[in-house]
Amino acid sequence: MQPNLLTPLTIKSVTLPSRIGMSPMCTYSAQDGMATDWHLVHLVSRAQGGVGLVLVEATAVSPEGRISPGDIGLWDPRQTKALVPIARGIAGEGAVPGIQIAHAGRKAGCAKPWDGGKPLHLSGWPILGPSPIAFDPTYPTPSALTVAEIKQLVKSFGTSAAMAREAGFKLLEIHGAHGYLIHSFLSPLSNQRQDEYGGTLENRMRILTEIVAVCQSRWGMDLPLGVRLSMSDWAPGGLTLAETLQVTQVLREAGVDFVDCSSGGAVPHAQIPGNEPLYQLPFAKAVKQTVLGIKSMAVGMIRTPAEANQIIQEGSADVVLLGRALLRDPYWALRAAQELGDSRLVPKQYRRAF
Ligand code: FNR
Repeated sequence: MQPNLLTPLTIKSVTLPSRIGMSPMCTYSAQDGMATDWHLVHLVSRAQGGVGLVLVEATAVSPEGRISPGDIGLWDPRQTKALVPIARGIAGEGAVPGIQIAHAGRKAGCAKPWDGGKPLHLSGWPILGPSPIAFDPTYPTPSALTVAEIKQLVKSFGTSAAMAREAGFKLLEIHGAHGYLIHSFLSPLSNQRQDEYGGTLENRMRILTEIVAVCQSRWGMDLPLGVRLSMSDWAPGGLTLAETLQVTQVLREAGVDFVDCSSGGAVPHAQIPGNEPLYQLPFAKAVKQTVLGIKSMAVGMIRTPAEANQIIQEGSADVVLLGRALLRDPYWALRAAQELGDSRLVPKQYRRAF
């Protein structure tokens, strides 16, 4: 029988109580890379609100890998400790605690959005990328990573993956989208290297496959591990769906459990149809249709429970991730449960109200 939005989903040893996930979203509210009370309340509220998978925002694998000084990190044991109550709190509400690990690459070192969001050009904050090509003229030109530095960086993803597991997370997402480090290697618009990390698609995805391998060894093979990809650069000469489907196939063969299908972010001149509902859904659908065995997550302008339910019922994706809808309404999933006539997601403490 075809599942619906509220049907549980088992991936490896983990069962999501529903197909509703919270997309990773930076809140720029960490101190020295440490999650704070803000994160605890913000993230556990969504679990209380019936979300089945709560993905903690982009969490940097190194200090210079942060988008802003307010990003969470996982390079210091104190940061692991700060995340423990968050993973425990989410799990305590019956949701699966997940986390996204990331390196911002050539888009690192920016102000928080409410402080303008522009590059800070801070001394002592190295900006790194595959090639010395700035994101746009206001951004610093990144230093092209040497092969030795790439190997080091790959290792830091493994260390963060191990710390995420130690903190109690049950699902790990590697951030390979939105123009950040991994995506900047995947996209020919930002990667013009001549060595084994540039040129052919196989070479451009090498850093990703190395990161996946090190994460699998440090995170473990018993818990779900996936990748968020920008399935298209939406720009001439950039990554295309045909290429990212090939990447997805390679990831599947490497044992990756899911692909979270986002898009864009590689270059400022991308033509993204971002104000259209479900604009990224064809990517999740293409993964379902062409790469057998990998779970596909859909994200982007999914607004109503009916829309989300239809995505699952028609088999276009395995999980629906919501971003802004959950910022507007932490109880979106409880509303969905009510609309779909299933009160299972309602916390027992709230049931008299439903
Ligand atoms: C985001 N997004 C995002 N994506 C990601 O992979 N890691 C992140 O940390 C963030 N941070 C972030 C912060 C804020 C405030 C927003 C609004 C978005 C993108 C997000 O996860 C999602 O993919 C998009 O917002 C599209 O989904 P919605 O918002 O249309 O449901």
